[in-house]
Amino acid sequence: MTFKEESVLARQAGGATYALASAVVILAVSWLIGKWKHRSEENLPPHIPSSIPFLGQAISFGQNPIEFLLAAYQKYGPVFSFTMVGKTFTYLIGSESAALFFNSRNENLNAEDVYSRLTTPVFGKGVAYDCPNSLFLEQKKMFKTGLNIARFREHVNLIEEETINYFKRWGKSGEKNLFMAMSEVVILTASRCLHGKEIRAKLDESMARLYMDLDGGFTHEAWLLPGWLPLPSFRKRDRAHQEVKRIFYEVIQQRRDSKEQEEDMLQTLIDSTYKSGRSLTDDEIAGMLIGLLLAGQHTSSTTSTWLLFFLAKHQDIQEAVVAEQRRVCGVSEGEEWPELDYDAVKDMQLLDRCLKETLRLRPPIMTMMRMCKTPQTLMGYTIPPGHQVCVSPTTNHRLPDTWKDIHTFMPDRFLDGDVANSEKFAYVPFGAGRHRCIGESFAYVQIKTLVSTLLRSYRLDLVDGYFPEVDFTTMIHTPKRPIIRYSPRT
Ligand code: HEM
Repeated sequence: MTFKEESVLARQAGGATYALASAVVILAVSWLIGKWKHRSEENLPPHIPSSIPFLGQAISFGQNPIEFLLAAYQKYGPVFSFTMVGKTFTYLIGSESAALFFNSRNENLNAEDVYSRLTTPVFGKGVAYDCPNSLFLEQKKMFKTGLNIARFREHVNLIEEETINYFKRWGKSGEKNLFMAMSEVVILTASRCLHGKEIRAKLDESMARLYMDLDGGFTHEAWLLPGWLPLPSFRKRDRAHQEVKRIFYEVIQQRRDSKEQEEDMLQTLIDSTYKSGRSLTDDEIAGMLIGLLLAGQHTSSTTSTWLLFFLAKHQDIQEAVVAEQRRVCGVSEGEEWPELDYDAVKDMQLLDRCLKETLRLRPPIMTMMRMCKTPQTLMGYTIPPGHQVCVSPTTNHRLPDTWKDIHTFMPDRFLDGDVANSEKFAYVPFGAGRHRCIGESFAYVQIKTLVSTLLRSYRLDLVDGYFPEVDFTTMIHTPKRPIIRYSPRT
């Protein structure tokens, strides 16, 4: 054998060895991957089976999501998954499992991925879920600067005045759709307090219709269907967005030109800068003003409606709330009410507890959601990327191992410091962590002022004992047939 032949043979032998070694490595790696995949599949949270392809549990969930989730919790425990309209949802029930959700970082459990298809067409680009979360956190900080106690002191008078004017149309007694009234009065008061007097002055019927069309963007269709579909509600939403923005641009320009320093949110946003030193653009300000109004619209109008229905059902509590108002305002029965003020509203502790209890039983945000971006381990399970991870305040507020007399409206349960067995995330109507609500204090001031003003004029009763059922078809659970009876409070 020549040297050349030897070296060819040696190369061939080396090649064969290399090929063999490679094959072994590939097989080993595939086996390991298979084993790992199998393991992680074994560790997936329990999955509620469904025989309906694609739709999955959509029908059962849609009929009564709260019963569905509580039954699943009893059967599968605090972490479980199910499929609806082709998506997998993993619910974390109870305080302990919710900690993963509230303590998570945005790059692991992401809010933009699930919310922005709803919010961006309504608020616009560059704000809320259409910008990096670090920027949205800066925008939330600007909102917080504008929502301070000095402002709340003015807000109480503005809300009282708007409410008195609005309810003049009710007359002395009758029966009316309470939810409709609350929706209208909440938008009037929120616009006055959060947008400033110029924008409030433009709030006539046509502007209210624009807000309604914008609000029509928050539907299950908008969340589930592609945005390019030519649906009438999508077109109305997009037209309303353009028009509202146009109106806001004019107001912002006028305010910038006037050189007057008003004490309101519009001024706060005009004067704010990001950490980088950059000021907000008019488009960002307009988008943030829309966001601010709509974030508090359904939440506060449904909450105040449910609260008033609870008071109509529990006459003794309604009387006690009015008696408390007399006491904090220093008036006896038959005497004229003085103007409300922030300190009096703050001192209404029973009303505070009634609101808190309403938010326990009827939290307007039924589910908070995040897109899982990296594998998350919890209680021995691995939640894989692609699952939509959810926490439901409504469910956490009704867990029998946490709360006593779950279904009873019992405001005084909050007198007991240990009301939710000191569990951190047992009571979360305003969320927690980096996405926590910045509107809680304003909502308390707004709802308490509105309710106190209304109760000065009227005694509220259920119509023939009917307490509204919950309408589960809307994104925020509203009352069905929300008609209330009112008569003069003499
Ligand atoms: C009863 C009234 C309200 C309730 C129950 C409520 C509830 C909530 C909840 C549960 C969240 C957390 C969402 C999540 O983690 O996915 C949230 C966030 C937020 N809310 Fe509210 N809200 C109310 C009123 C308001 C008002 C009046 C405003 C504005 C003035 C507002 C502005 C916001 C904002 C800016 C966020 C931040 C969202 C984020 O960081 O992702 N909310 N709210």
